[in-house]
Amino acid sequence: MEAFVRSHIREMSAYEPVLPFEVRARQLGISPEHMLKLDANENPYGPLPEVLGALSRLPYVHIYPDPESGFLREALAEYTGVPAEHLMVGAGADELIDLIARLFLEPGDAVLTCPPTFGMYAFVAHLSAARVIPISRRQDFSLQVEEIEATVERERPKVLFLASPNNPDGGLISSATLERLLKLPVVVVLDEAYIEFAPPSSSHITETLRWENLIVLRTFSKWAGLAGLRVGYGAFPKRLMKYLWKIKQPYNVSVAAQEAARIALEHRDELQRRRDRIVAAREAFYRELRAIPYLEPYPSQANFILCRVVRGSAATLHHTLMARGVLVRYFNSPGLQDFIRISIGRPEEMEKLLNTLRQLPFPP
Ligand SMILES: Cc1ncc(COP(=O)(O)O)c(C=O)c1O
Repeated sequence: MEAFVRSHIREMSAYEPVLPFEVRARQLGISPEHMLKLDANENPYGPLPEVLGALSRLPYVHIYPDPESGFLREALAEYTGVPAEHLMVGAGADELIDLIARLFLEPGDAVLTCPPTFGMYAFVAHLSAARVIPISRRQDFSLQVEEIEATVERERPKVLFLASPNNPDGGLISSATLERLLKLPVVVVLDEAYIEFAPPSSSHITETLRWENLIVLRTFSKWAGLAGLRVGYGAFPKRLMKYLWKIKQPYNVSVAAQEAARIALEHRDELQRRRDRIVAAREAFYRELRAIPYLEPYPSQANFILCRVVRGSAATLHHTLMARGVLVRYFNSPGLQDFIRISIGRPEEMEKLLNTLRQLPFPP
């Protein structure tokens, strides 16, 4: 039977998600409440109590969800300033990334990614048997714009995936750079999964009304603390919408996810207060990290900080922290082998991690 499996799928590598928290805790023999989970950029404050309350009272769990996520899209239109007819909701931004690949990519089509970046872009492109052309970022993680322009000219890719803030470094794309890239004959997918942690007006979502080739993705996983419910959305040029509706699974976003996201938006003042706390913790943590002699942190506009391990080994540091119940992200991939990425938790969690880092043998 294996011979029936599509050949490119037989050959492609699997996506490597972080290990489930409870599994890791069991593996380490540490009880989950004594662990510090700072490896997947989740929100340390979790969902709002109002969201949990609404979930406990859901009346229609036995009925299929609204395929159009109508109430949620109306609320999103008000939140984003993008009319509902441009918006589509998905089971996380991940599902929309997948949908974009299904919409555009035929086997052999070219896709541009700018690594280091979120691994899902290359993953969905490989699933579609597309050719992934990586245009690596510079040492400071800025984009090589001329190189992207030349590659678009030469390879005629259909899609360019960009994240702003970028995962793993947390840097934003400038308006001037984005504008330059939008002038290219390529669909630009701008992933704003972490945009709520960046300064206000860093988002380009309303520009989807102006550019025929811009798609902007967002999620409730990070700022709204709903990663486990899987709900994200995208703003698309109007002309693409009828094709997206055609290919979307009808019941992709559960009743619980739609309701949780809608209630979260209703109470977004409280989410913004939590966001402010995370941003303040990020800035304080960054200052303290600069005093750790074996780490060089990068300034970030997201809810994580990337650090170059300038002395000793990042892999060892990752393991040493894990043995003490602290989970941070280590990427065993080219260009990132000297780095760890630390998600921002509550202030007391960051203090605990700093104390651990200060006490480690030097270099780690
Ligand atoms: C840049 C980026 N985009 C999208 C996602 C996935 O978001 P979601 O949970 O909405 O699928 C992540 C998750 O880590 C991410 O880092």
